[in-house]
Amino acid sequence: MKVLVVGGGGREHAIVWKLSQSPKINQIYCAPGNPGIAELAECLSISVSEIEKLANFTKKEQIDLTFVGPEEPLSLGIVNYFKEQGLPIYGPSREAALIEGSKAFAKEMMIKYQIPTASYAAFTNYEKALAYVHSKGAPIVIKADGLAAGKGVVVAKTLEEAENALKGMMKDVTFGSAGARVVIEEFLEGEEMTLLAFVNGTTVKPMVPAQDHKPVFDGDKGPNTGGMGTYAPLPHMDSSMVKRIIEEIVQPTANAMVEEEVPFEGILYTGLMLTKSGPKVIEYNARFGDPETQVVLPLLETDLLDILIASLSGELENVEVKWKDKSAVCVIMSSDGYPGSYEKGQVIKGLDNVTYPTIVFHAGTTAKDREIITNGGRVLGITSIGDHLKEARELAYQSVKKVSFNGAHYRTDIGTKAFR
Ligand code: AMP
Ligand code: GLY
Repeated sequence: MKVLVVGGGGREHAIVWKLSQSPKINQIYCAPGNPGIAELAECLSISVSEIEKLANFTKKEQIDLTFVGPEEPLSLGIVNYFKEQGLPIYGPSREAALIEGSKAFAKEMMIKYQIPTASYAAFTNYEKALAYVHSKGAPIVIKADGLAAGKGVVVAKTLEEAENALKGMMKDVTFGSAGARVVIEEFLEGEEMTLLAFVNGTTVKPMVPAQDHKPVFDGDKGPNTGGMGTYAPLPHMDSSMVKRIIEEIVQPTANAMVEEEVPFEGILYTGLMLTKSGPKVIEYNARFGDPETQVVLPLLETDLLDILIASLSGELENVEVKWKDKSAVCVIMSSDGYPGSYEKGQVIKGLDNVTYPTIVFHAGTTAKDREIITNGGRVLGITSIGDHLKEARELAYQSVKKVSFNGAHYRTDIGTKAFR
């Protein structure tokens, strides 16, 4: 089979890495890919939003399956476009992807179907939003409604921070049209976790739970990023909690999407807060998480292609999704300054020093004059697999020390919440 993966970050590197192990696949293409992906796939110079070009490529090359990594093409309707032309593609429709693309849509659905989440209100009027914030007080959470690359969220500890966030999103339009509408939420206290699942209609096949680390510095200090590291599974979380999350949240979500006539087919990402009164949804994404994928897929025993094909033929229910009895840790190496401004073009050294059971997933890299240089905020995701979390952590941090570039930053506490 010939497969096309759309995307070019660490998540897509992990997807291509996993698919490349399928005996049924003889050629993988990736658009646009990156230098790490280029070792496993043929990279195309087509961007993720050039849907027509992507469709034409799959027609010309007779691609058997297209897999979409990022949210942008999903929100633009890549799945609708491909399906209208009879081109095989895995992922949610534009309408189903609204579960991620519009926080207001997701919130309204959760309230309607009694799926536990933070209480909220949505505003397009700045004065009204400000009045609401004053009536509720801090801490309070302010979110830009549209897609903002995971950065359109401010957890305001003080009223002043909340006011500044509102002003930034609604008056100074920091996030462009994404901030024209804001969602203001109750602050949830507890530990965060991610549960990914393969979903097709009302069929839900959960993955292993993972935990992301969003703030840029150790101890969850500093501004939020796209994610500075992950680990899976979560040894301090017992299986009854995962069972509860599926029963109370993920399954009801899949059912609600069917009920609302926007059935979801694809990877459903549920970001949760484990509060004193039980698990609550922080956000949904309509795709694999980045960098959750970099720890979840290395633990997947089953051929990913088999799961995707079964889903597309309405047989997801009959697939046994098996997981390795191991642990994985991913440490992100980022550019100094990220998530603010940072320099690109730093030469990356030592990539060849790292071998399995450690994998270097490329996120923001590019090739120049036979060297690999930095080309983004999150540059690399170093994932190690071990028999247990402690072993995987040690291996990941030993491996991080073997790779270097000017201004490299990483958190040193990925996975330590499990030991507290
Ligand atoms: P989101 O993009 O919605 O996942 O939000 C980014 C981060 O902000 C989350 O990973 C949480 O750490 C934090 N966050 C979002 N919503 C809430 C909330 N209601 N209460 C507390 N923290 C939140
Ligand atoms: N790791 C967070 C995300 O993928 O949105």
